[in-house]
Amino acid sequence: MKSIDIIAGARPNFIKVAPIIKSIERKKAISSSLFDYRLIHTGQHYDKKMSADFFNQLGIPAPDINLNVGSGSQAQQTAAIMVSYEKILINDSTDLCLVVGDVNSTAACSIAAKKLNIPVAHVEAGIRSGDITMPEEINRILTDSITDYFFTTSKHANKNLRNMGINDSKIFFVGNTMIDTLVDNMVKLRPPRIYKDLRENEYFILTLHRPGNVDNKENLELLLNSIGTYSRGLEIIFPVHPRTMKVIRSIKSIPKNILIADPLPYLEFNYLVKKAKAVITDSGGITEEATYMGVPCLTLRDSTERPETILEGTNELVGSNPKNIESILEKLFANQWKKGGIPELWDGKTSDRIIEVIEDII
Ligand code: UD1
Repeated sequence: MKSIDIIAGARPNFIKVAPIIKSIERKKAISSSLFDYRLIHTGQHYDKKMSADFFNQLGIPAPDINLNVGSGSQAQQTAAIMVSYEKILINDSTDLCLVVGDVNSTAACSIAAKKLNIPVAHVEAGIRSGDITMPEEINRILTDSITDYFFTTSKHANKNLRNMGINDSKIFFVGNTMIDTLVDNMVKLRPPRIYKDLRENEYFILTLHRPGNVDNKENLELLLNSIGTYSRGLEIIFPVHPRTMKVIRSIKSIPKNILIADPLPYLEFNYLVKKAKAVITDSGGITEEATYMGVPCLTLRDSTERPETILEGTNELVGSNPKNIESILEKLFANQWKKGGIPELWDGKTSDRIIEVIEDII
């Protein structure tokens, strides 16, 4: 029987592979000839709150193999994943390596597989920010340059791939697996116990983890002060990524209305997004979830690899300059935010479409 490897390493990966695995399991229950799979966790994210909580809430089975690579510099982490995954493949190969997203695990496993002549399929292929200073952009370019089958979330991604010279027969516009997970869990979203008294539309949710925003203490301090000052006293729930926490600890004064919290589990986090006045973030995936839920999203970056969240959705690029916060929040409080719609094929059925294609190609 044919078998594929499904790679997951960091928090956003878990959200993207969950519906793919569910879709395989559903189909296996009615078709004994469907391919098998092996779930490989690289161990890039390892804290309970960044990993195990997501496996539990999203019903992801325990990984078949955990490479346990942990933290390190960009090169250390990428290299450690390559070395460990190559060993696994040499010992016990696979018919297809399926990677998702743009994290170090995505690029590292594609390279290891491709050098052993194993075909690579990339879910969320073709997205580009144009900002080569982001490790994720480098991972996207590397991965797509050796991918055999491209699963895309938008027509913008299809266009980027065609511009690279990729043949249309290799591009499969299937939609967004992150939205599959959201659709699947929408009725299960629940308030976190610690914030059960928050009132709808009367708070913000904030996430920050990009090196450009958080690695420099002075810059992070300015950002937090601006957000705290111009949010008209509303509370700002800030579940802090471990990378950001290291810097936060050294900041002396943080505005009182910014409530620092540990990373939240999926169901609680998205409940807060759904009911928030707006999301302030530098994440890519959260701009997609906010677009789907129709919640205003202020992105603290100068570029995006997900233009559909701006052109069709509720997202707007604010830039990373703290000076931009005042005017954008004024616009929000003046109720001038766009309404937005849901991008094509973000319908909760993307994973089923992916499985159908994989059945054909392996
Ligand atoms: C990674 C991805 C990014 C994604 C993000 C989501 C890359 C290049 N970046 O960034 O695209 O949006 O995940 O969270 O792959 N750490 C912990 N505990 C953990 C995980 C990380 O303490 O469970 C610490 C590490 O020690 C490290 C820092 O957080 O110092 C950064 O972790 P890393 O996985 O390198 O990158 P992220 O910033 O999480």
